[in-house]
Amino acid sequence: MSTPAKTVMAEPATLPRQASFDGMEFPLLLQCRSPDADLPATLSWVAVNLGKIKEQLARHACILFRGFPFRTVEDFDAFVVAFGFEPFTYERSLSNAVRLSRTRRVFTANESPPAFQIPLHHEMAQTPLYPARIFFYCEKPAAHGGATAVCRSDILLSRLEHRHPRFVADCRAKGLRYTNIMPAENDPASGMGRSWRSTFGVTSPDAAEEKLRQLGYMWEWLENQSLRTTTPVLQAVWRDPGTGRESFFNQLIAASTGWRDRRNDPAKAVTFGDGSPLDVNAVHDAAALAEELTADLPWQAGDAALLDNMVAMHGRRPFEGQRRVFAALGDPRGPAAVC
Ligand code: FE2
Repeated sequence: MSTPAKTVMAEPATLPRQASFDGMEFPLLLQCRSPDADLPATLSWVAVNLGKIKEQLARHACILFRGFPFRTVEDFDAFVVAFGFEPFTYERSLSNAVRLSRTRRVFTANESPPAFQIPLHHEMAQTPLYPARIFFYCEKPAAHGGATAVCRSDILLSRLEHRHPRFVADCRAKGLRYTNIMPAENDPASGMGRSWRSTFGVTSPDAAEEKLRQLGYMWEWLENQSLRTTTPVLQAVWRDPGTGRESFFNQLIAASTGWRDRRNDPAKAVTFGDGSPLDVNAVHDAAALAEELTADLPWQAGDAALLDNMVAMHGRRPFEGQRRVFAALGDPRGPAAVC
């Protein structure tokens, strides 16, 4: 006689540092209430509740899944697959962070040093290819710190527009271009140390130039075979075609506060699409407003999270001790998504 299939019950619960916007908790915590839940039952729960979970994601922009039976990266990979988003591999991405793949979909979150605060960002908004969805999984939380910070950038945009209407109008009308210098070989000491070889999936400067041409980048070779690249004009404000909701979908905060290493100077990282300089005060205020709006994903072992990357920014608090948090991306978007 076969044993009956287990069922999973999960419901919203509260978190210590949870924000709320228009009555919507941020992040939304879904707590599993079934102590004997196993992985197959959890995957069935996702399949049955997928429509409802996607509605919750659309309303809350970030969901933390706690108490589910995720013991390994492979369990997490299966959870991600259950959502059915088109995969987005690190190899395909134009991300400037150094990461290590663990499965085809799952890779380490940014490998930058523990004391380094990763500023708020929309994943890969500085490139013409970005994921609309991000999953995280915590295998081991840090001894101290190390929360993933999250921020609703639709709320940020409306507050910023109230304070700097001209700046936001320029962001909408002109878009942005991003410049950064990539090393010839990966530099794990930097939060933005991914080599041009890895970024563009090539082995020679000629092949890199061909890829850059396809993507519409400008470039210049520098000493030690490092490469300065400038993106084509990318949107600074994203408008949801279904709802009309807008978000501050760009990399201004991270680029202007955190894109610093021995090759890069944040002051030279971003201009408007026509090459004109940004209003430094407005960028400063955007970062300050974002910090006010920020909530935490306070990791516990076995937690998973799902973010709407078009609406929620994320970053990483500094930490002490070992921290193993993994990410998986889905639903590629942007002008290069069809390349
Ligand atoms: Fe990220």
